Amino acid sequence: MTIDDKDVLILKELLALKGDFVSGNTLAERLDVSRVSVWSHMEKLRAQGFEFEAVRSKGYRLTQKPASLNQTMITALLPRPAQQLRVIALDTIDSTNSEAERQLADAQKTPFVVCSRTQSAGRGRMGRVWHSPENGNLYMSFAFRPQISPAKLSTFTLWIGINLCECVNNLCNVDSLVKWPNDLIVKGKKVAGILTEARMDADQTRDIVLGIGLNVNSPASGWPAELSSIATSLSQEAGREFDINRVAATLAGRILQAYDQFIEGSHWTTLKEKWDHFDVLRGKQVSLLQGDARISGTATGIDPHGALILEREDGTHFQVRAGEVTIEKQ
Ligand code: BTN
Repeated sequence: MTIDDKDVLILKELLALKGDFVSGNTLAERLDVSRVSVWSHMEKLRAQGFEFEAVRSKGYRLTQKPASLNQTMITALLPRPAQQLRVIALDTIDSTNSEAERQLADAQKTPFVVCSRTQSAGRGRMGRVWHSPENGNLYMSFAFRPQISPAKLSTFTLWIGINLCECVNNLCNVDSLVKWPNDLIVKGKKVAGILTEARMDADQTRDIVLGIGLNVNSPASGWPAELSSIATSLSQEAGREFDINRVAATLAGRILQAYDQFIEGSHWTTLKEKWDHFDVLRGKQVSLLQGDARISGTATGIDPHGALILEREDGTHFQVRAGEVTIEKQ
């Protein structure tokens, strides 16, 4: 579905009024369209699940927003600098990363984000499945075509992780932390994961798909047995539900800003300091499985390439560039 700019503009006007009335004439003047056109756009919004009250002497007011993911709503809520972002909101898809890849292969303009309420083949790192039923969570994939060398991408997922962490903490009033390289953790349980998939052409990055699975509104009872002790959601931690469209729009704005900072290189000034601040592994005894070998040490932060540094018992340092570490002792 392509997005109708006038629908977005009308919705923005109505949202800004926070439930107050606006006359059809005022809307028509602000949007530079006829009153009949205002009415027909409002009918289109009604068909998407928005409800309005119309009072003869006062005009219209917004009384109901769609509960499910809505393209017009997310676009209307995007912060101003992110308004060039194309939003695709779906009910279900195999994987938002796969859909973003298909659209890139189809030469679609970037940046764009594919959001879905469910995924039938959601994937995580290391070939794992990302559990994605219809339970109020958010599955998003951002697509970019950066003009940078692949070597420069080594800190990309870490930078996005920090930004996701700060954004979620501000929006939902929780204390999430980052776990190297791509997890968001609240009180020891995973609340989000990031999967970055990039395609390379010789010494140039062709495109990047940045996938984020964020557990927003799933109830404690909604996890399969193998996940219930290791996964949580923002609603479980904050004790209230969140407006999924507002979360998607706020996150999208933040990710776009973080991407721009990464591409211009301005992230370098704060990357290390922010990582140290939110790093859940820092100072902890951790171990890494590499083939049959287990490497243990104290996590002391990241190096300039984004590798995790382990200080071993003999005082030497070991750089972990890939894989997954587990905390041995708190
Ligand atoms: C991980 O922790 O292993 C990363 C999980 C990433 C999951 C997200 S959900 C949206 C996007 N689509 C996918 O198929 N995967 C990513």
